[in-house]
Amino acid sequence: MKPATNQYSMNIIPNIVQYQGSKRLLAPHILRHMPARFARFVEPFAGMASMTFAVAAHGRCGGFWVNDLNAPLVDILRAAVQQPQALLAEYRRVWEQQFSWPDGHVAHFYHVRENFNSGEQTAANMLYLLARCVKGAVRYAQDGTFNQSPDKRRHGTRPEKLEKNIAAVTTLLHGKTAFSALDYREVLEQCKQGDIVYMDPPYQGVSGARDQRYLAGVDIDEFAAALDGLNRRGIDFLVSYDGTRGSQSYGRELPPDLGCRRVLLRAGLSTQALLLGKKEVTHEALYISRNLAGGWEQPDLFLAAA
Ligand SMILES: C[S@@+](CC[C@H](N)C(=O)[O-])C[C@H]1O[C@@H](n2cnc3c(N)ncnc32)[C@H](O)[C@@H]1O
Repeated sequence: MKPATNQYSMNIIPNIVQYQGSKRLLAPHILRHMPARFARFVEPFAGMASMTFAVAAHGRCGGFWVNDLNAPLVDILRAAVQQPQALLAEYRRVWEQQFSWPDGHVAHFYHVRENFNSGEQTAANMLYLLARCVKGAVRYAQDGTFNQSPDKRRHGTRPEKLEKNIAAVTTLLHGKTAFSALDYREVLEQCKQGDIVYMDPPYQGVSGARDQRYLAGVDIDEFAAALDGLNRRGIDFLVSYDGTRGSQSYGRELPPDLGCRRVLLRAGLSTQALLLGKKEVTHEALYISRNLAGGWEQPDLFLAAA
């Protein structure tokens, strides 16, 4: 089994909104490790679904399953595919409000955040909060309320720009995508042979939140057991997990007895290090299940991103 080509472009991959940890930049390099064609692509930790968009934009399969434990995120993706006009109209209304808000656009962000936290968890409100918050980083307090601050220099994605990206997402995924907000283990239990499962769990070390609803830390032993279950059932998968920054490693590696091939993808220069005047390259590990890894020659170990 060989991938169709080694040339994949990031330019054709749509992006709805900024999301911390997005795999958009690495997507062309991750695609190289998947078969040319397969039945269904499953993303149990979808976030803003950049790998689903990448697989769809490159025409690699005909069916998709997008899942994330954070239900309002999934609501954005579902609405973008199934009710794009309603989502855009509501986003435009909320976005435009900030320019006539009596106390200014920053106060408007806090107003929407408060509404969201008191029950108005609409896709448009979540989209606006993500578009406007610091680094597109979803943060929740222990009581489950969204507590990320606004980026005071930005107003969030313009509705015109969003419209183009959402139109691309609708075209790619309409009529062939299932959505859910389940724990990843429930998704894996329902996967079957012929699926390609791509997993990008929350960063180790960053996601120790006690809140069980969102961004709950994924236990490495439970995760490894779930991957072992996929191996036993002959289901192919890829996992983004640990990595290196400069000479330092972050995150524990997956157990070798899973039999995965581990390749390091060059993810770029660390922005944190750049702020301190250092140039450190970040590499992210991609684990490829044994059946996939043995399927074709890998051209190199370090693949340059961007
Ligand atoms: C690193 S982000 C994924 C980013 C994604 N690859 C992208 O490109 O946007 C990890 C995601 O896992 C989700 N998550 C955390 N715990 C989960 C669980 N137990 N089951 C399913 N999803 C979970 C988080 O809500 C978060 O969106």
